[in-house]
Amino acid sequence: MYTAKAKKGIFGRADIRKKVAVDDISIEIKKGHITGLLGLNGAGKTTTIKMLTTLLAPTSGIIEIDYVDIIKDKLYARNKINLIMGGERGVYWRLTERENLRYFGSLYKINPKELDRRIEETLEVVGLQKAADIVVEKYSKGMKQRLQIARGLINNSEYLFFDEPTLGLDIVIAKELRNHIRKLAD
Ligand SMILES: Nc1ncnc2c1ncn2[C@@H]1O[C@H](COP(=O)(O)OP(=O)(O)OP(=O)(O)O)[C@@H](O)[C@H]1O
Ligand SMILES: [Mg+2]
Repeated sequence: MYTAKAKKGIFGRADIRKKVAVDDISIEIKKGHITGLLGLNGAGKTTTIKMLTTLLAPTSGIIEIDYVDIIKDKLYARNKINLIMGGERGVYWRLTERENLRYFGSLYKINPKELDRRIEETLEVVGLQKAADIVVEKYSKGMKQRLQIARGLINNSEYLFFDEPTLGLDIVIAKELRNHIRKLAD
């Protein structure tokens, strides 16, 4: 449930409204399975993914990863997951692709040698090898989205969440991404 303040003119008191975004959802996802969430705009998909990835605390209910309560133990979850979103936020525009990946990879405490290998591997998956040393602000929208994907793959996480990951991608790389997700799941 979200609490949102609705503004009423300059002097009016803010009207506090409660909004139920996700209600009574129960899902179990097995390792190696791909599960999709479909729904209209505003149905609660992003909210659900944010709760599953510890970015939002649910008002009530239980969320477990490997039977560990991740509302209590966020760190457990964060070591096991990654999230790939659509859009241009969440990466550093003043850095190059390689620098972004090195930064995010180092947050997962991957050793430098292994990280170098992973960076090359993910650059290949998203087809950005040639642009890897150009600052991200010079990228096209689709290239920034490819970087989002690379960032999400860098820690080789056990569980991957996606929220509109193909936003702005051309059909070639969108298809490749779907194939890659299939491969990861297998
Ligand atoms: N920060 C917030 N504060 C208040 N209400 C919110 C907030 N974020 C989302 N909501 C509301 O929660 C509901 C679910 O939103 P959510 O973003 O989860 O939908 P969605 O299924 O991802 O939609 P879309 O397909 O447009 O991405 C909507 O009614 C939305 O207005
Ligand atoms: Mg959404």
